[in-house]
Amino acid sequence: MEFFDIVNVKDKFFEQYIGKYELNSIITGIAQRINNDYKNCSTHNPLIIIGVLNGSFMFLADLVKMLNIKCEIHFIKVSSYSGTETTGKVTEILGLTRDITNQNVLIVEDIVDTGLTMRELYHQLSLKKPLTLDMCTLLYKKVKCKVHLNIKYVCKEIEDKFVIGYGLDYDNLGRNYDSIYSLIEDDVSVWNEKN
Ligand code: XMP
Ligand code: MG
Repeated sequence: MEFFDIVNVKDKFFEQYIGKYELNSIITGIAQRINNDYKNCSTHNPLIIIGVLNGSFMFLADLVKMLNIKCEIHFIKVSSYSGTETTGKVTEILGLTRDITNQNVLIVEDIVDTGLTMRELYHQLSLKKPLTLDMCTLLYKKVKCKVHLNIKYVCKEIEDKFVIGYGLDYDNLGRNYDSIYSLIEDDVSVWNEKN
């Protein structure tokens, strides 16, 4: 589906920031690296991919279509965010039924902002003693990140902008857009005030 360059969600306007062709090309590059890095994974030792819902669903779907390694796909949910205000509070990990002890694990996120969610996730999953535990994110607001994270796969570093589309939402709307949109300038002050 094609969308306009500017979209309106509730009280806010967003402009196209990363188009679908650019997304496809950067994800292709990351998929090639993952294919190479995990080429020794086998049926008995697959890569355990853990997508963080809801935001990662579209990125993960496109990414795994480009993988030719043996992998399993699982999803978890954490709650750390509402509206345009990041709280940094992470509750428990929900929905992980797969035993990851001694497995190669890759966490897949839509966006790393302050990094607190990813740090907490990494910490909690590492307690389960995986063989390897790595992180992959579509977007990384490096300037906003408050903690040290060694993210193995970053598709794109972005400025401090509030973004929606391609899985990312504003109050649960906008996830269906096939491109990433950023909040238009006027509203950024509102977003920054809260952070
Ligand atoms: P932290 O700050 O813990 O935040 O790295 C990670 C989570 O916050 C959400 N988030 C966003 N969601 N547009 C969104 O739709 C954004 O610009 C944005 N920044 C942070 C997101 O859920 C992420 O998992
Ligand atoms: Mg998220």
